[in-house]
Amino acid sequence: MIEVIDLHKSFNGVDILRGIEFRVEKGEILALIGKSGHGKSVLLKHIVGLTKPDRGCVLIGGEDIGKSRGNDLERLRGKFGYLFQGGALFDSINVFENVAFPLQEKTRLDKEKIREKVLRELDQVGLAGVENKYPAELSGGMKKRVSLARCLCTDPEIMLFDEPTTGLDPVTARSINNLIRETHERLRFTGVIITHDIAQIVSIVQKIAVLNEGRIELTGTPEEIKSSDDPLVRQFFEDERGGPAIS
Ligand SMILES: Nc1ncnc2c1ncn2[C@@H]1O[C@H](COP(=O)(O)OP(=O)(O)OP(=O)(O)O)[C@@H](O)[C@H]1O
Ligand SMILES: [Mg+2]
Repeated sequence: MIEVIDLHKSFNGVDILRGIEFRVEKGEILALIGKSGHGKSVLLKHIVGLTKPDRGCVLIGGEDIGKSRGNDLERLRGKFGYLFQGGALFDSINVFENVAFPLQEKTRLDKEKIREKVLRELDQVGLAGVENKYPAELSGGMKKRVSLARCLCTDPEIMLFDEPTTGLDPVTARSINNLIRETHERLRFTGVIITHDIAQIVSIVQKIAVLNEGRIELTGTPEEIKSSDDPLVRQFFEDERGGPAIS
């Protein structure tokens, strides 16, 4: 479903992605782990076609998203829900309007149905009652949960999560992970999740890929990765209480 083939990208002469290869089968979630600054978010932006590769490609259901234009690109992008690392809420509209936005753009649901869906989704992320607030009035964790509600509400075929639990307290982080798992069980979307939350992620995903210095150093099932003696992987498991490893 998602195939990343020999993906290269540099910025200002610095190689960030140096021949990334992996695939995610339909209905499967892959967790991407790796040190800060090694290109995880850049990789995710290539998958949704926001950034163009210098070399190589990303195929979505066999179609090269980096080469798609116009209606084709729109159609491919329409398959995605994307939780940006920073949340990327619109500051000038309230929470309700933020979550409703993709429903208004991508679906033909009437106002009442949209209202129902938005309120249900906010309730699911534990934010019932905040629909009239503006992003500036929310804590970092609340913004993240609003972004998650916005990402899940269109029931997308493919979901990309860039650090959905970073910066949240452990209880909220667990509830977000549970929500991702339940939504996956219900919708069977294809997904990529960037996370440092290695202990909890093993029960959600089917595959883990380790990104290091611009390449995928290791891919395997959570069990395989857990028992790997790769030093970086060990560091991730051992450091999980101390937070993500810094490059
Ligand atoms: N648009 C851009 N222009 C120039 N450099 C960029 C751009 N986007 C990312 N970079 C650089 O690419 C590198 C990888 O960034 P990226 O955001 O993918 O890291 P990351 O692995 O997601 O890190 P973190 O875990 O901290 O989120 C960084 O050095 C960053 O400065
Ligand atoms: Mg990032």
